[in-house]
Amino acid sequence: MGEFILARGNGRKIPKEDKIFGIAGRAKAAIAEKGRDNVVNGTVGALFDDDGNLVILDSVVKEFKDLDPRDFAEYAPIGGIPAFKEAVKKAAFGNHMPKGYLEAVATPGGTGSLRNTISNYSDRGDQILTSDWHWSPYGTIAGEIGRSVATYEMLTPDGKFNAGSFKEKVHELLERQQSLVIIINTPAHNPTGYSLTLEDWNNVIDVLCEEAKSGKTIVPLIDVAYIDFAGDEDEYRKFFDLFERFPENVLLVVAYSLSKTCTLYGGRCGAMICVAKTPEIAAEFKSVCEFSSRGSWSNSAKFGQVILSRIYGDPDLLAKVSEERAYFRNMLLARGRAFSEAAEDCGLTIVPYDGGFFVSIPCEDPDGASAILEEEDIFLVPLAKGLRLSLASAPEDKCKDLPPKIKAAIEKL
Ligand SMILES: Cc1ncc(COP(=O)(O)O)c(C=O)c1O
Repeated sequence: MGEFILARGNGRKIPKEDKIFGIAGRAKAAIAEKGRDNVVNGTVGALFDDDGNLVILDSVVKEFKDLDPRDFAEYAPIGGIPAFKEAVKKAAFGNHMPKGYLEAVATPGGTGSLRNTISNYSDRGDQILTSDWHWSPYGTIAGEIGRSVATYEMLTPDGKFNAGSFKEKVHELLERQQSLVIIINTPAHNPTGYSLTLEDWNNVIDVLCEEAKSGKTIVPLIDVAYIDFAGDEDEYRKFFDLFERFPENVLLVVAYSLSKTCTLYGGRCGAMICVAKTPEIAAEFKSVCEFSSRGSWSNSAKFGQVILSRIYGDPDLLAKVSEERAYFRNMLLARGRAFSEAAEDCGLTIVPYDGGFFVSIPCEDPDGASAILEEEDIFLVPLAKGLRLSLASAPEDKCKDLPPKIKAAIEKL
């Protein structure tokens, strides 16, 4: 008998236990047994303060408590409430609103935006392009709707964006597909903390403009899940000014999420926003994406939409949210700096960290290295190309102590 009893496999390999949740569970058990001070839990994809408490913005909690019951009990329109659709464009783009025809469609988190973009801008059987270092659910999301993921090498050996590999892969896929969705997770990429520079972006845009001469559809899907945890919120939105050069057959889509930016992980709120060259392409985006929403989760939860609408409707509240978030962002970036400096001091090679929740350490045998570290109560996630440390869940003093221990574990293999 195969792996499935009654369920249809549909070509899938479903692990008994999700690797990340498995390790996170063992880290929790170790903390319960040995105490927080004696364990490093570098596995969790949510932000914790140095005392191990989940960071939840007080200003957001206050708005949550002030909700009218209709703000969560009532259905929201499929595409989102009108105030949210405006607010989320401001949240995503800030002072760098791209020129073009913008449409926003509410989704359950960034995940919903990824799903709907893939389903509407690729054909069944197509490959979606992303970097070799990537958030593994991209493959799951694509696979569940009959697509798969192809990858380019994200970095050159000296740690720069690999525009050559990007170009090669885009060209190769467009030779055999009618359209191409390309997921680019920046700034503050998960799992590496890399952010594309403006120069990297110009190289990406050059490639896409050149390839678009084929007349085929290209959809750069920018996953900005960590946009407010990269650094200065305005500085890290400047790349949105660069997309004017795109021709009509390149449709920019931004996957925005309130999970991290508003600490509403469980609220399942986000949006997909398109920047189209014609009103017809924007209207089509709205129509096909709302149709897909209807056929997958129907309406999205309403309360996060109301909260974001209030934040962007009240400058004082927006200032409060931004100030509170800046405090925690600085806490996170200090952990990243502490880790990077200690790695440099002991000669541990890491993927250059710019910002965000995670940093990665390339190695030959990630599973082996993670098993050795686990014996010392250090819990990191093994990926295909290395280990991932969540700076979001490890306090600064531990981030500082880790590099020599990681180096020793890798050298033991
Ligand atoms: C890279 C990346 N993209 C998107 C998401 C989407 O998260 P959500 O669906 O909670 O908004 C996450 C969450 O961990 C992520 O790490």
